[in-house]
Amino acid sequence: MFNEKELDALRDGIRVGMSEKRFRHTYEVEKMVVYLAGLYMPEKTDMLRAAALLHDVTKEFSTEEHIRILIERGVEVSEEDICSPKTLHARSAVALIPERYESFATDEVLSCVRWHTTGRSDMTLSEKLIYLADYIDLSRTFDDCVKLREAFMGAEPEKMSMEERLLHLDKILIMSFDMTMSGLLNDGLPISHYTVDARNSLICKKLLSR
Ligand SMILES: [Fe+2]
Repeated sequence: MFNEKELDALRDGIRVGMSEKRFRHTYEVEKMVVYLAGLYMPEKTDMLRAAALLHDVTKEFSTEEHIRILIERGVEVSEEDICSPKTLHARSAVALIPERYESFATDEVLSCVRWHTTGRSDMTLSEKLIYLADYIDLSRTFDDCVKLREAFMGAEPEKMSMEERLLHLDKILIMSFDMTMSGLLNDGLPISHYTVDARNSLICKKLLSR
């Protein structure tokens, strides 16, 4: 889908205007998603690498910039969005990628970027992999991230069958949503309904399969 040369050019492109810290995180997400793709969908490795490189392209913009980008493109911004500014960068990135990185703006790349922060109900496998890579990449040192990384890798998914591996991924994602939601509850911050939907859809799937 995308070759090495194109991905190298994209990596150089996104580095411009990004802090060293954000670039290091982005680069680590790319590496983590290569590992996850190897476990779950090797045929999508290049697409996932492009999504990893693009997922935080607007992360360092101000809340005002996110809102301006969205409003100028006719995307609705609600009060809830403004109260959860950390979720805005996924939407502003999706608005800008087709303009700035046109050749990478496939539906799959855009949906991975769109849902990497909150998750959503019935996430696709590629959306789950970018979401998880962003949570557990090696630049992350927060307790929850370290705990999740250890829970994912410690179970040795490479030794599992594909069926077990997919169940393991869902289990880890539920853990991540639980941790995100308790962090937001502790801090008195709003919880995106997309995160609630993401958690509920995975839990329902698990309960119904019993
Ligand atoms: Fe990120």
